Amino acid sequence: MRVAVTGGAGFIGYHLVTGLLARGDEVSVIDDFSTGLRSRLARVGNRIALTEGSILDAASLDEAVAGCEVIFHEAAIASVARSLVAPRQTNEVNVSGTIEVMLAAARHGVRRVVFAGSSAVYGIPEELPCRESQRPAPVSPYGVSKLAAEHYLHAIGVARGVETVSLRYFNVFGPGQDPASDYAAVIPRFTAAVLDGRRPVINGAGEISRDYIHVDDVVAANLLASRASSPSGLTCNIASGSRRSLVELLQAICSAAGREVEPIIGPPRPGDILHSAADVSVAREALGYRAAIPFAEGITKTVAWYQQQAAPQGW
Ligand SMILES: NC(=O)c1ccc[n+]([C@@H]2O[C@H](COP(=O)([O-])OP(=O)(O)OC[C@H]3O[C@@H](n4cnc5c(N)ncnc54)[C@H](O)[C@@H]3O)[C@@H](O)[C@H]2O)c1
Repeated sequence: MRVAVTGGAGFIGYHLVTGLLARGDEVSVIDDFSTGLRSRLARVGNRIALTEGSILDAASLDEAVAGCEVIFHEAAIASVARSLVAPRQTNEVNVSGTIEVMLAAARHGVRRVVFAGSSAVYGIPEELPCRESQRPAPVSPYGVSKLAAEHYLHAIGVARGVETVSLRYFNVFGPGQDPASDYAAVIPRFTAAVLDGRRPVINGAGEISRDYIHVDDVVAANLLASRASSPSGLTCNIASGSRRSLVELLQAICSAAGREVEPIIGPPRPGDILHSAADVSVAREALGYRAAIPFAEGITKTVAWYQQQAAPQGW
């Protein structure tokens, strides 16, 4: 089938593109390379059709989605920290951009849009694990934008006859996540520090915990969600179903790297929540989703990937 991936040069988008090509799909990518990396797409070469442009530009979207059956909508400003500095821009890309993607889907008779939602919609969860039935209460502009985007996704989908699925990813990790960006996620930051012999900074308390999910499991969830037999209008958590503290995470990285480091305890980051973990039963029942990669194995593979890179900072 012919499919489009918005944000296909991003960390998750690139893995998804690779998974879709492996499934035999024809893949079109739209990306403005604001955080996406050309080096990632160079690896798939001329096997994709690339539109270099913004999802805020209808003509670029028309070019990217024409003839597609499914759109995987990954493009976003994907950082809580950046959303606090740039809330208007976050709203523009994440909310208006999603509206544009849905309108383009309707214009081109796209069957389904699968959206990259986020655990950030839960804010500070009143109880754990987070369930989709809980009242969302995001505490960052990023979380608000992802929640608003979800609502627009489903509302425009119903109004214009486009099927929709929102996958609320928890903390995604794996090979190729950029450790060099100003808003790098914790696993590439810790891994780069451990491999470079630097002391990683743990912001806030070491017991801060997250539900970490390997990117291959996120790709698998997207493939399941794109099937014609999967329910439309669904919103579900995509996670491992268990949580690890930052201290446990650093220990796992050190053990995979065969090194010992003493972290520096830094100040808490604004917008950070203390604990997060998901109930994944909705995704299991509705999509047949199951996280297949155990945490320790995922960390070992990820650290091995960074070790193999001659210049990890190049990502
Ligand atoms: N990484 C995670 O742990 C995580 C967790 C929850 C949700 N998500 C969501 O998953 C998606 C992918 O996240 P990621 O970690 O791969 O981030 P990323 O920053 O690596 O990827 C985002 C991609 O979108 C592109 N992009 C941004 N604005 C654009 C625009 N206006 N037009 C076209 N392209 C644009 C960027 O260039 C980049 O390639 C995002 O929607 C994010 O909110 C990620």
